[in-house]
Amino acid sequence: MAKQTALITGASAGLGREYARLFAKDGHDLVLVARRRERLDELARELAAAQGTTCMVIAADLAAPSAGQQVADQVQSAGRSIDFLVNNAGFGRRGPFAQSDVRLQLEMIDVNMRALVELTRLFLPGMLERKQGRVLNIASIAGFVPGPFMATYYASKAFVVSFTEALASELHGTGVTATASCPGPTATEFADVAGSGKSNLFRRPVADAASVARHGYRAMLAGTVVAIPGLKNKLSVQSVRIAPRAVVRAIAAKLNSVETT
Ligand SMILES: NC(=O)c1ccc[n+]([C@@H]2O[C@H](COP(=O)([O-])OP(=O)(O)OC[C@H]3O[C@@H](n4cnc5c(N)ncnc54)[C@H](OP(=O)(O)O)[C@@H]3O)[C@@H](O)[C@H]2O)c1
Repeated sequence: MAKQTALITGASAGLGREYARLFAKDGHDLVLVARRRERLDELARELAAAQGTTCMVIAADLAAPSAGQQVADQVQSAGRSIDFLVNNAGFGRRGPFAQSDVRLQLEMIDVNMRALVELTRLFLPGMLERKQGRVLNIASIAGFVPGPFMATYYASKAFVVSFTEALASELHGTGVTATASCPGPTATEFADVAGSGKSNLFRRPVADAASVARHGYRAMLAGTVVAIPGLKNKLSVQSVRIAPRAVVRAIAAKLNSVETT
């Protein structure tokens, strides 16, 4: 594969870090984006030593209104074009919506949806001009169900699935593809950040980040539109299509709850 550049948001932890390792292994240059610069620098050093990867590090808070444009400006100033865009940065927060911190809910919307849309809009024209490129958006199986006690997070992932499917359809025949990877519960920092570590969902065995990222990476290369890693996750999504909505809501509420006894 010819050397190209991948921009990965949320590369300081979890799935983003695994995606960076996969692109580096295939010989690509990287642009690593997240808030924790020291984590990104550490990853850049790891990949330079292991694969001779050239990494550009951009410390950015993607909840900030101008963040996407600033990232694109820095990439352009460095004379780079982006061949792979991985919109991976995201977070959730567990708890009843009425008692939630409204600023955090809006930040979630900004990171999980607004920044993803902005970066896609900014980098897509270059890909279309070159008639090649891949957009990989990290959604979730949460994108197929309503999520009581994580209402905004689940809704944000439904947006990512819908947006990516529509985009993939618009891009048909252009040489550029869009893929939504939809993982189930995975061992990363996500559960701690979300306060979900003790919820029923995360008290079950969870997938490992490296294999989930590998599944998404392969799906992206193949141009698959919606990719769900793991048989259990695939079956869950299929069962949602036929189950009554009240049942789906009740199960999701139970999964997002913490048993007190
Ligand atoms: N783990 C799961 O169970 C699971 C399941 C389905 C989908 N997902 C999705 O997978 C994606 C990756 O999550 P993960 O599981 O790898 O979680 P993670 O380990 O917590 O990583 C999240 C990444 O997002 C970045 N991020 C969060 N807020 C940001 C902000 N304001 N600006 C810039 N970067 C920000 C974090 O970097 P900084 O903190 O350094 O900014 C970090 O690199 C997310 O979109 C998540 O919704 C996760």
